[in-house]
Amino acid sequence: MSKPLEGIKIIDFTHVQAGPACTQMLAWFGADVIKVERPGAGDVTRSQLRDIPGVDALYFTMLNSNKRSLTLDTKTPEGKEILTKLIKESDVLVENFGPGALDRMGFTWEHIRELNPGMIVASVKGFSDGHHYEDLKVYENVAQCAGGAASTTGFDDGPPTVSAAALGDSNTGMHLAIGILTALRARDVTGKGQKVAVSMQDSVLNLCRVKLRDQQRLDRVGYLEEYPQYPHGKFSDVVPRGGNAGGGGQPGWVLKCKGWETDPNAYIYFTIQGHAWAPICRAIGKEEWIDDPAYMTAQARQDKIFDIFGTIEEWLKDKTKFEAVDILRKFDIPCSPVLTMKELANDPSLRASGTIVEVDHKERGKYLTVGSPIKFSDMKVEVKGSPLLGEHTDEILEQLGYNSQQIAALHEQRVV
Ligand code: COA
Repeated sequence: MSKPLEGIKIIDFTHVQAGPACTQMLAWFGADVIKVERPGAGDVTRSQLRDIPGVDALYFTMLNSNKRSLTLDTKTPEGKEILTKLIKESDVLVENFGPGALDRMGFTWEHIRELNPGMIVASVKGFSDGHHYEDLKVYENVAQCAGGAASTTGFDDGPPTVSAAALGDSNTGMHLAIGILTALRARDVTGKGQKVAVSMQDSVLNLCRVKLRDQQRLDRVGYLEEYPQYPHGKFSDVVPRGGNAGGGGQPGWVLKCKGWETDPNAYIYFTIQGHAWAPICRAIGKEEWIDDPAYMTAQARQDKIFDIFGTIEEWLKDKTKFEAVDILRKFDIPCSPVLTMKELANDPSLRASGTIVEVDHKERGKYLTVGSPIKFSDMKVEVKGSPLLGEHTDEILEQLGYNSQQIAALHEQRVV
């Protein structure tokens, strides 16, 4: 079948990560995504953390595949005219400028709606409209601190810690994509566009939902039994950092395997699922614990959970993380090796499923990227290389009705 979002035209005014992650996904699913970039410079990530001089950085190529690139100075009258034409014939405009930038450009929501009542304007900001920090510019780690992730991540005796996962950026982009698809569905029914706004703080907080659960439990009972602070340590009146503790009802921890002394990733994550207690005991050769009242219930195990993890580590001492998981999987124990980026990049299963894909780029050659984590039975998502800066400018201007002399003049004046 053709791609489900074919026929949807998106003006992609996004940069860095949060916005581009959203529009990249919509491009994978068939939307015509036109990335609008400043002439000469483009998205700042084209030149950030470059590994090949003069060639678009991986930061850019991995977040902008399947898009077209239009260079346009939208602060010039001619640039505004081109943008106006684009707005009239597009379905969605996505942006993640600093607060107020689109308005200052002259493209307020009211004006865009006048130009095209069906237009969906989707924005990422650091904080939501009306928030007391709404004027702040925000990057990933700022959002992780603002959304509750940092105060609850790390170890009790260390500072607030950010995650390597892009909870503030790509996560917000994924929320925005859901918002855009919802607004498109609404437009199918009403014919009207609308404004869709997602803040990075809100998106992080949405993923920290269980920590808000814990705050309320702590307020009521004064302790959190699944945290390592229980029962021997102390709780204050705020949710503490729980280290590597399992966040739900199943205690878990990162455990050392053979070679941990020299390999910083020779670990597995081990979960003690309540009903898997007997298989766990069998797997680690501790059958005597199965019916021992001091061990047989989750409650009985709670105060010696780290001794139990210590015993499991003894068992793991002569097994690599892969050997350990191969044994534990036979006992139905939820676990995983701690995988490095190198191991993931070369994982045959991820290559076969299209989660890690090799893509061709006109200047860089082949590089790896993360393909669609969403798999469809009726669509194969094909990830293409990212566009060069302004690669599609002339083609897009022609489609808007500009002739070759007009296009040459726009280049001359550096409007495009
Ligand atoms: N032509 C002309 N001007 C352009 C342009 C174009 N094609 N594209 C952008 N600009 C202008 C904007 O209009 C703005 O001008 P103004 O401030 O004079 O009105 C200017 O470029 C700077 O934009 P801004 O987005 O504020 O860039 P910044 O580098 O100062 O800030 C961020 C970067 C990411 C901090 C900021 O964009 C932000 O907070 N965004 C919202 C949250 C977010 O998405 N964070 C990033 C997550 S990865």
